[in-house]
Amino acid sequence: MKINTRPIREDEALAFRAAIAAGFGEDFDGTTMPEEWFLELFPRDRTVAAFDGDHMVGTLGAFPFRVTVPGGTGVPMAGTTIVTVAPTHTRRGVLTAMMTDHLVDTIERGEPLAGLWASESVIYGRYGFGVATENHEIEIHRERVGIEGEQGTVRLIDADEAGTVLPDLYDAVRVRTPGMLTRDAAWWKIDMFFDPEKRRNGYSAQRYLLHETNGVPDGYSIYRQKSDWSTGFPNGTVRVREVVTTSPPAHTGIWRFLTSIDLFPNIRYWNLPVDDPIRWKVPDHRRIERKRWDALYIRILDVVAALEARTYAVDGVLRLSVEDRFLPEVGGSFELTVTEGAGSCRRIDDAPVDVTIGTSELASLFLGAGSVHSMAEAGLVRGDPDSVTLLGRMFRGDVAPWCEEVF
Ligand SMILES: CC(C)(COP(=O)(O)OP(=O)(O)OC[C@H]1O[C@@H](n2cnc3c(N)ncnc32)[C@H](O)[C@@H]1OP(=O)(O)O)[C@@H](O)C(=O)NCCC(=O)NCCS
Repeated sequence: MKINTRPIREDEALAFRAAIAAGFGEDFDGTTMPEEWFLELFPRDRTVAAFDGDHMVGTLGAFPFRVTVPGGTGVPMAGTTIVTVAPTHTRRGVLTAMMTDHLVDTIERGEPLAGLWASESVIYGRYGFGVATENHEIEIHRERVGIEGEQGTVRLIDADEAGTVLPDLYDAVRVRTPGMLTRDAAWWKIDMFFDPEKRRNGYSAQRYLLHETNGVPDGYSIYRQKSDWSTGFPNGTVRVREVVTTSPPAHTGIWRFLTSIDLFPNIRYWNLPVDDPIRWKVPDHRRIERKRWDALYIRILDVVAALEARTYAVDGVLRLSVEDRFLPEVGGSFELTVTEGAGSCRRIDDAPVDVTIGTSELASLFLGAGSVHSMAEAGLVRGDPDSVTLLGRMFRGDVAPWCEEVF
């Protein structure tokens, strides 16, 4: 079986979308989204399709995101997505071929990072991706969850008004939160506000809740509702899509509202930041059930550019050997010098180094999460104990990284 890979032509967009749906085991009738929107969202020159003869058997695409890193914003990151291989063609290297094209293309574009969300956690480590953010999936049982603290006012707004106010609030939080991604106008229109029946999963249309303090917007939530009377009692669910707040009163006001809607005692949110302050605002915090998940995976494609893009918690000099089994030319030996929090990095000759680390482990540290200590205990970071400790202290962030955007 000879597999060829290349970007799609414009007349192949429909077949590409059908192949994506088939790869995820879903039906496709072409009506979920207008075709021109699909091409607006997925730059065609950043798609990779795999062909067995004329038959399209693999898909991959990349969004041109920018990601916030500790101390910096807007680092280019290829948002790797729509990764599928036809079930008739799996485990024969099709993904590996597409991933090679995609990562090489990303390097040639001068983007130091790729990032993705994984359907299964076993898939992407081999390509050098590491878990860079985590999240909490929560379910709130609201009896005895009285959210404490001051708040302003909340009101429900329609999608048109949401379109004028949500992007600025999102950006205010994005620039200070490592792991958050840029959203352009097409993203807001197609991913956030386009709300056809097929996206609702049996829930209501999206509701937009705005919080204001002294008339100034400082937070919002997007959520859906589903009522349930099967027990004879009101047992509805609020499914939160996102909560974005720029002030503590907004956080309090929005969560107080979401946990007090009559007839809807169950509140679910799949993507709470792991250090979200809600934990400190409820007296009975066990009523918020939490499950921790891996979220954004990062792949470093240019070690020097990536390490110079972020700031560090403590100063020092470290010579790092970065082992990269999938793209050996990306790895090598580097000297990272941190002065007053700013990093400068250069390639050096191989010997000798202070710490040896794999490219996916470095990616796991990159946004400020990850424990060097536990990686060292697992044998994934090697070096003298002082250097290993310094590595951990340098890379640690003040804020837990969080990626609000699932793509
Ligand atoms: C995930 C998927 C794209 C992998 O495609 P593939 O063409 O089978 O992958 P490859 O043949 O290139 O596999 C490369 C390696 O990864 C392993 N691998 C790939 N997918 C795996 C999986 N889901 N579980 C376990 N191992 C997997 C292969 O065994 C192979 O290992 P090896 O190099 O040691 O032999 C494909 O299984 C798929 O389409 N799954 C359904 C959709 C999906 O989950 N997409 C990912 C969205 S994030």
